[in-house]
Amino acid sequence: MLNAVIAVIISYLLGSVSFSIVIARLVKGIDIRQHGSGNAGATNTLRVLGKGPGIAVFILDIAKGVAAVWIGHALNGGYESWAPVLCGLAAIVGHNWPVWFRFKGGKGIATTVGVIATLAFIPALIAGVVAIAVIATTRYVSVGSLLFAALVPIGIGIMTGSGPMLWASLLICVFAFVRHRSNLVKLVQGKENKLGTKRG
Ligand code: G3P
Repeated sequence: MLNAVIAVIISYLLGSVSFSIVIARLVKGIDIRQHGSGNAGATNTLRVLGKGPGIAVFILDIAKGVAAVWIGHALNGGYESWAPVLCGLAAIVGHNWPVWFRFKGGKGIATTVGVIATLAFIPALIAGVVAIAVIATTRYVSVGSLLFAALVPIGIGIMTGSGPMLWASLLICVFAFVRHRSNLVKLVQGKENKLGTKRG
């Protein structure tokens, strides 16, 4: 039990490493949260700093979600089946509300991709393909992100039924919608930024 709790704490601290903030500081000496959409995430890094940094942030934010689930498996030694799921959740919470950056983080989607792909690969794959198709067609990353977050619990519910993973994915979906409030308002107003444009 103690090991599982330690794993969850480590996962939160790891999730709190906001790569968009770190990379934007290193590359341009700026706080990414004061530019573009103000979000500390891969999409805004792409918007403000370009393709290289944007892709780097996307991969690193996914990787910390994957790593958190692994930490949950490794440290808990298989005793607590809920540990990997809770570690994944903790990494997303860390990304959204990072202890290292005054609790002002991102929207958690890339980290969610890493967590869900590790915990439930098939639902993640299906939701990911749909999300990419929607982003390619509409050029709204936020719409694809929210669709991904909403489809995952449906996929997990169909494939595995009720359980810790379903409840975690529902909570992750709530996080995603809460963090995308401003995007939802902009979408309704027709002011949401499209991929490839510089407007925040
Ligand atoms: O995952 C974040 C994305 O859905 C929206 O990012 O910067 O356009 O608010 P942004």
